[in-house]
Amino acid sequence: MDEQKVLVTGGAGFIGYHLCRKLSTITGNLTIYDDLSSGKIENVNDVPSAKFVKGDILDLQTLCGLPKQDLIYHLAAQVVVPYSMENPLIDFETNAKGTVYVLEKARKDDAKVVFASSAAVYGNPSVFPTPETYGFHPFSCYGLSKVVGEEYCQMYRDQYGLDIVITRFANVYGLRCHGVIHDFLDKLAKNPNKLEIIGTGKQSRDFVHVSDVVEALLRVGAGDKFNGEIYNLGVGKSTSILELAQLILTILGLQNRTIVTTTNQSWQGDVTKIWFDISKAQKDLNWVPKVTLEDSINEVIADRKISI
Ligand SMILES: NC(=O)c1ccc[n+]([C@@H]2O[C@H](COP(=O)([O-])OP(=O)(O)OC[C@H]3O[C@@H](n4cnc5c(N)ncnc54)[C@H](O)[C@@H]3O)[C@@H](O)[C@H]2O)c1
Repeated sequence: MDEQKVLVTGGAGFIGYHLCRKLSTITGNLTIYDDLSSGKIENVNDVPSAKFVKGDILDLQTLCGLPKQDLIYHLAAQVVVPYSMENPLIDFETNAKGTVYVLEKARKDDAKVVFASSAAVYGNPSVFPTPETYGFHPFSCYGLSKVVGEEYCQMYRDQYGLDIVITRFANVYGLRCHGVIHDFLDKLAKNPNKLEIIGTGKQSRDFVHVSDVVEALLRVGAGDKFNGEIYNLGVGKSTSILELAQLILTILGLQNRTIVTTTNQSWQGDVTKIWFDISKAQKDLNWVPKVTLEDSINEVIADRKISI
């Protein structure tokens, strides 16, 4: 990959940052393209060898004006499910239309594309663990816009001969994200006697560490043997939010002190359970997710210097 020109859309975001950190050690030709709508300039600054272009994926002129690329990781997206339900048009513009713009850039350059899709394309699955073949059953506008993005990827592969790999992420976590682990730890740092869970707490998720996702992204980006494939990237295990809360309390030694409550309300587009079948990624990519939830909780505690 060292001579390749690599573009990461959404490279200033959470997963994009971790991917770019790793890519910057492999290629000297890395470009981050991000409008900083939710991404952070610190993330860009912390990958000093990458070239940064502040731009919107919906700005085709700027996007296509970038130098010719060999490989495009397309991560830029509107990522908030409740927001997609309140603003379906904006979500569609960024995630569906924006993906077509990125594909146009790829078509112009004859670049390979790795597309960041989501568990949301499965909606509320009824088959567990859910394989890639489960099919599209989106349950939110976000899920639908990712389905449209995937379908355009397949179209560009079939009709224009582009090399495209689709990766579907479960619940990715790690340093610099704003997920439920950080939320619980922040709440407990403020008040260790009480933890309120938004929702029923019964929803369960397949939590995968960002470093494991990045490793899989590097593997699918290398070579051309994964052209046309779709990969679930999770850990192949489902943990309920209540179980996660208990795990955090145990690690902090608060299990006999903190009172856990739930708001008992779910939100539009929320799904009950995510549990990926990751056997295809394990076999094809010779990939095994390594980081446990315990490791990651300890990582965040150390990073934030949380002491209770
Ligand atoms: N984090 C997860 O658990 C998860 C799960 C499933 C799928 N994904 C997908 O992974 C990708 C990265 O997600 P993330 O968690 O890092 O989110 P993030 O919000 O941290 O990153 C998204 C990035 O895209 C940028 N962006 C948004 N709209 C843009 C536009 N119009 N033009 C240019 N840049 C734009 C944002 O500024 C941000 O830096 C997304 O495609 C998301 O849908 C993430």
